[in-house]
Amino acid sequence: MILPITSENNQNGHLVIGGNDVLKLREKYGTPLYILDIATIKNKCQSYRNNFTFSDLDVGIIYAAKAFICTAMCELIAREGLGLDVSTGGELFIALASGFPADRIYFHGNNKSVEEIRYGLKSKVGYFMVDNFLELETLGKLCEKNNTRQKIMLRINPGIKANTHEYLQTGEIDSKFGFSLSSNVALEAVKKVSQYKNLELTGIHAHIGSQIFNILCYSRLIEVFIKFIREVRDKLGVSITRINIGGGLGVKYTPEDKPSSIEDLAKIVYDAVREYQKKFDVSLDKLYLEPGRSIIGNAGVTLYKVGVVKKIDGVKNYILIDGGMSDNIRPMLYQAKYYAYLANKMGDSKNTEDDRKIHYSIAGRHCESGDVIIDDIKLQPVSSGDFIVVATTGAYCYSMSSNYNGQPKSAVVAVENGKSWVWIKRQTYKDLVMGDVKLYEN
Ligand code: LLP
Repeated sequence: MILPITSENNQNGHLVIGGNDVLKLREKYGTPLYILDIATIKNKCQSYRNNFTFSDLDVGIIYAAKAFICTAMCELIAREGLGLDVSTGGELFIALASGFPADRIYFHGNNKSVEEIRYGLKSKVGYFMVDNFLELETLGKLCEKNNTRQKIMLRINPGIKANTHEYLQTGEIDSKFGFSLSSNVALEAVKKVSQYKNLELTGIHAHIGSQIFNILCYSRLIEVFIKFIREVRDKLGVSITRINIGGGLGVKYTPEDKPSSIEDLAKIVYDAVREYQKKFDVSLDKLYLEPGRSIIGNAGVTLYKVGVVKKIDGVKNYILIDGGMSDNIRPMLYQAKYYAYLANKMGDSKNTEDDRKIHYSIAGRHCESGDVIIDDIKLQPVSSGDFIVVATTGAYCYSMSSNYNGQPKSAVVAVENGKSWVWIKRQTYKDLVMGDVKLYEN
């Protein structure tokens, strides 16, 4: 499934999501428009909960806010019973502003400032995910000073290469994240925690990468983790019973993509836990996952209006849309591939692969040649005034959006059961100068 699960076509040949004709959404909210299908988000949360329910292993699902965050999303995640991974003071602020229960917040970040650490403590976040020795020391000392206890997990760099784009690999030996397993750095970190009476080591964490299709690396990670837990017990007499294996499950962006399912992941994870617990005589009481993209990715689409259609004879046909790299930087950063539909010409006879006869390049309105959302896609004939919907833009599009070229950020609209409402307002031109001040003070 590329489009959100509630997607259908109506008798006018328009795309309908969550019971809303997207052309009507366009009239109401304008374009470019991020549309989020609540049913798809709920369905993914439920799928994680259901597939990861085992009689002999407790599993916690934590949504990675960096994929997409706003107060409404935090409210939804809270209702769905998931935890929340925040990675900066800013994300923590958004979560708290939504009323998200602090004890279900996992505070990540590889370079937290002292102010951020204080803010996390003051907010009573459930867990600090400690990345490095400086953070450990700062946190340990602050807790001692304030006479407060804090649960922590240590982020470990397991030295595992995930099979994905190099920018999306985070678990390799040269990664900037976490305590390395090599040269006993991670072991030292565990030892160091015991120097701080107020810190409670509840587990170890790793996130090895994102948009991962070959999920066997999770089995390898679990093996490495359980082996390490055994080593920690043997060498330090410390018992660790919880592991957090991060996020990373890939999603479908194009018809060619064949990601593993949440169900496949659950099986691999469960089998690995059973196998390696036995092999290393270790027993876990809880496992955590931190999915971001696989919860929100397929729930979102971006609707654009086609402006100019430019033909460079014998070379290229450009469809120029009213957004671009300011609302979706992923094709430029990661060579990410996307798939699109003509939202106003979805009718059966018009949208089969046979009808997609013309090669187009879908490009944005920014001052860069690289501002291309889809380099080559076959579509039925497109004219100015048509509407393009780009699929799978729920994750890492709004959250990585910018005001490049003075483009106001697009609105985010939620849809469900025939209703639509704004989750994040469209920025106005005025918003673009809100923070600006005069040339000189006087
Ligand atoms: N946990 C940690 C500690 C993470 O750093 C991340 C993502 C996740 C969980 C969630 O991973 P997911 O399930 O979403 O793959 N901007 C890139 C993705 C960067 C991911 C960073 N960390 C992109 O657009 O593909």
